[in-house]
Amino acid sequence: MKQIDLRSDTFTLPTDEMIEAIVIAHRNGRLGDDVAGEDQVVNELQEKAAKILGKENALLVTSGTQGNLISLLSQTKRGDEIVVEKESHTFKFEGGAMSSLGGLYPKPVVGVRGYIEPETLRSVISPDDAHYAKTSMVVIENTHNYAGGAIITPEKVKALADTAREYNMKIHCDGARLFNAAVALDVPASSFVKDVDSVQICLSKGLSAPVGSIIAGTEEFIHEAHRNRKKMGGGMRQAGIIAAPGLVALEKMVDRLKDDHANAKRLYDRLAKIQELSVETPDTNILFVNLDNLGINAATFASALKDKGILVYGAYGTRTRFVLNRMVSESDTKYVADSIEEIVRSVTS
Ligand SMILES: Cc1ncc(COP(=O)(O)O)c(C=O)c1O
Repeated sequence: MKQIDLRSDTFTLPTDEMIEAIVIAHRNGRLGDDVAGEDQVVNELQEKAAKILGKENALLVTSGTQGNLISLLSQTKRGDEIVVEKESHTFKFEGGAMSSLGGLYPKPVVGVRGYIEPETLRSVISPDDAHYAKTSMVVIENTHNYAGGAIITPEKVKALADTAREYNMKIHCDGARLFNAAVALDVPASSFVKDVDSVQICLSKGLSAPVGSIIAGTEEFIHEAHRNRKKMGGGMRQAGIIAAPGLVALEKMVDRLKDDHANAKRLYDRLAKIQELSVETPDTNILFVNLDNLGINAATFASALKDKGILVYGAYGTRTRFVLNRMVSESDTKYVADSIEEIVRSVTS
């Protein structure tokens, strides 16, 4: 049976062009030792990413998690307090790295569709008093995964960044899916990050590269980040074999994210008609469906979908997440909607 994988856009396989780009880089003698700064493909990727993001410099890192951690460690001191959204990846899904590895103290707050409102930030900043940890950074996630691929507009980013600056705080953007936001609003990716100090983007999610993330910011930030990457064992040698697909990802894979958004909308349009389901309107490629009224949990729903060759994670309580991605076509999306209708019929009959 064909499998339709909606667990995450991280399951996207590299394109043929990405694999060929690795071979071409090798044949053209462009690979080198990146710890010595001598891999030409890595250098090209970093320059290109910095330009696209409107930042002074950029650095290739192994993963989104590593990029976020390096960004935090490079701009804070041990013992500092970091304001994070309660459902954010940095807070919830990165193994507690900021505290266990960085000595940082996360202060989770509730966002509105993933957005930490400026008043919320203001209300949790600790006084400049010896009793308190220093609140030195706020982290945003754009798009916000758990809020359903929700977009934080450039205006909202600026409002939060302005507030952070009033308190001498840094602001970091976990932009694992930043290009989804850019494509959905048809504005340059740089407009979402011009007001933040640092940003992390994933090459390996919807953009389909096999490995890698980029962090970007000022020269000073990247200088410090370089040291922290090395400390974490993230200095790689002929990393051009990662950068070559990364370049294809940035050059060729951004516009097509629109197809994933269109499929998310198609799935939404079909599922919104099923009264037993409560479906959250997708901004981008992530669709959450609430199963409360259907009376089954996400694990049972996931197993019924699996019987029909459809993979989703079953770990969201009574919410099920569908992540549309390059490996899922329009006709697959239709099959998923048909299958869900069948499952609902069999549960309710
Ligand atoms: C919003 C968000 N940030 C960061 C990450 C971490 O990326 P990685 O899996 O490359 O460490 C993910 C991964 O799914 C994510 O969804």
